[in-house]
Amino acid sequence: MERIEFVKKCGQLCLGGLMVGSLLESCVGNYYATAQVDNTIISIKKTEFIEVKKENSKPRKSVLIRTEKLNFPITVYKLNEATYSAVLMECTHNSCELNPQGDYLVCPCHGSEFNKLGHVQNPPAEIDLKTFKVTFDNENIYVHLS
Ligand code: FES
Repeated sequence: MERIEFVKKCGQLCLGGLMVGSLLESCVGNYYATAQVDNTIISIKKTEFIEVKKENSKPRKSVLIRTEKLNFPITVYKLNEATYSAVLMECTHNSCELNPQGDYLVCPCHGSEFNKLGHVQNPPAEIDLKTFKVTFDNENIYVHLS
């Protein structure tokens, strides 16, 4: 194998590894929580933000919830111990369903990006996402649909 061919193959392998890593990261973060819907309030147990695997547990930064009341899922982000955000996963550019990727929601249709508060970070979307008021007590998180 010639040197230039070797360098090309190494570059392709590295790029492939990076892509697989980011795909895995985005898949791992997409967890649909069990939620209870009571009229206009969705409640989620705070324990849904903890991933338990055998003897280990680790915190989740976000969970997804889906309800028949809305055409799109909601991502609920835990910003810190006392702050959550809830963002409708409907792109404001042309209504595609967004994909959670780490700390961002990314549109598969034309590439718009939104942050955890639903603010536009990348066009073509120009309008922030619909958000919902979030309250909580010791056990549950409540997403208020109206
Ligand atoms: S529909 Fe999302 S960027 Fe166009």
